[in-house]
Amino acid sequence: MIKIAFFDAKDYEKRAFESRITGEELSLVFFDTRLGPETVPLAMGFDAVCIFVNDVADKTVVEALTRYGVRLIALRCAGYNQVDLQAASGKITVVRVPAYSPHAVAEHAMALLLCSIRRIHKAYNRTKDFNFSLNGLAGFNLYGKTVGIIGMGRIGQAFAEICRGFGMEILAYDKVPSDSGVSFCSLDELFEKSDILSLHCPLTKETYHMIDRESILKMKKGVVLLNTSRGALIHSEALLEGIKERKIGAACLDVYEEESDFFFEDFSGHIMEDDVLARLLSMPNVIVTSHQAFLTEEALDAIAGTTVNNILTFFAGLPVPNEISYS
Ligand code: NAI
Repeated sequence: MIKIAFFDAKDYEKRAFESRITGEELSLVFFDTRLGPETVPLAMGFDAVCIFVNDVADKTVVEALTRYGVRLIALRCAGYNQVDLQAASGKITVVRVPAYSPHAVAEHAMALLLCSIRRIHKAYNRTKDFNFSLNGLAGFNLYGKTVGIIGMGRIGQAFAEICRGFGMEILAYDKVPSDSGVSFCSLDELFEKSDILSLHCPLTKETYHMIDRESILKMKKGVVLLNTSRGALIHSEALLEGIKERKIGAACLDVYEEESDFFFEDFSGHIMEDDVLARLLSMPNVIVTSHQAFLTEEALDAIAGTTVNNILTFFAGLPVPNEISYS
C-alpha cells in the first residue's frame, strides 16, 4: 500500500481523487493545512506527498522529507515554482500535471473579459436589487479589437481560438514563436497595438514583473489587462498606479502577487492586511477571482487521473514522463 500525504486538501479535490482510487494500492490522508517548514513533520511515515500551488517545498522541506524517507513529491498542478528542484535533485523525485485543461483557463479568461467589458458584475448586483437602470453600463464590442497574447503555449493557443471566434485581431509574443497561425511581434509592438492584453506565459526570472511601470507606459490608453497565469508577472503597485492614472481601462485578475496569504481561504469578516489588494478590489474596473481559472469538473478529473497515474507509475519503478528535473 502506497501512503500519500495530501496537503492543502479542498472538498472539490477530495471528491475527484477519491473517485479515481478504485484498487487497494493507494491510501490518501487529507490534510487541510499547507505543506511548509512548520507542517512537514505531518509527512512522517508517508511514501509521497501530494501538493498544490501554494504549498512550499523549499530546501528545508525537501531535506526533511528526504530524512523521513518520502520518495515522491507529486504536484497536482502544472507550475512548479514552489519546489526547490536543486535541493530535490538526486534525493526525491518530483512529478507534475503538465496539462489538464487549457480550455478551462482560456474560457475563464474570456469569461472575465466579457464580464468586465459588458459590466455583467454590476448588472448582476443591480437587478438582484430590482434596479433595472442601464446608466453607466455601456461596454464595447470585442469584434474587430486587437488582443495581444503573451505566451502562446497550450492556454495561449486555446485563448487565441476563442478570440478568433469573436472576430478579434490576434497578436502574439512568445520567447519561442511557433507555427500557430497567428502574427508574432515584439513585446513593445504588442504593448503599443493591443486593446486587450492577456498573459499566458510561466513565471520565471525573466517574466517576473514583466508588466511594470515602464511597460504600462507603452500600452494603449484604456487597455484591458487579463492575468490568469501567475500574479508576479505584474508589479501590483504599478498596476494600481496605471488604473489611477486612467491608463489601464480595466484589469481582470485570477492571480495576484501575494495570493498565497489569502487565496483559497475565507477572509470575510477579517481586516484585509494587504493594502494593494484592498485598493485594487475597491476599483470599479477591477475583477478578481481567487485562482479559479482551472476549476472545472473536467480539469479536476484530469488532474486527479494524471496525479494518480504519476504516483502508480513511479512506485511501479517505471520512468514517469511527467517528472521534472533540475537543469
Ligand atoms: P505552456 O508551457 O504550454 O506555455 C507557456 C508558453 O509561454 C510557451 O509557449 C513558452 O514558450 C512561453 N514563454 C516562456 N517564457 C516566456 C517569456 N519569457 N516570454 C514570453 N513567453 C514565454 O503553459 P500553459 O499550459 O499554456 O500554461 C501557462 C501558464 O498558465 C502556466 O505557467 C501557469 O502559470 C498558468 N496557469 C494558471 C492556471 C490558473 O488556474 N489560473 C492553471 C494552469 C496554468
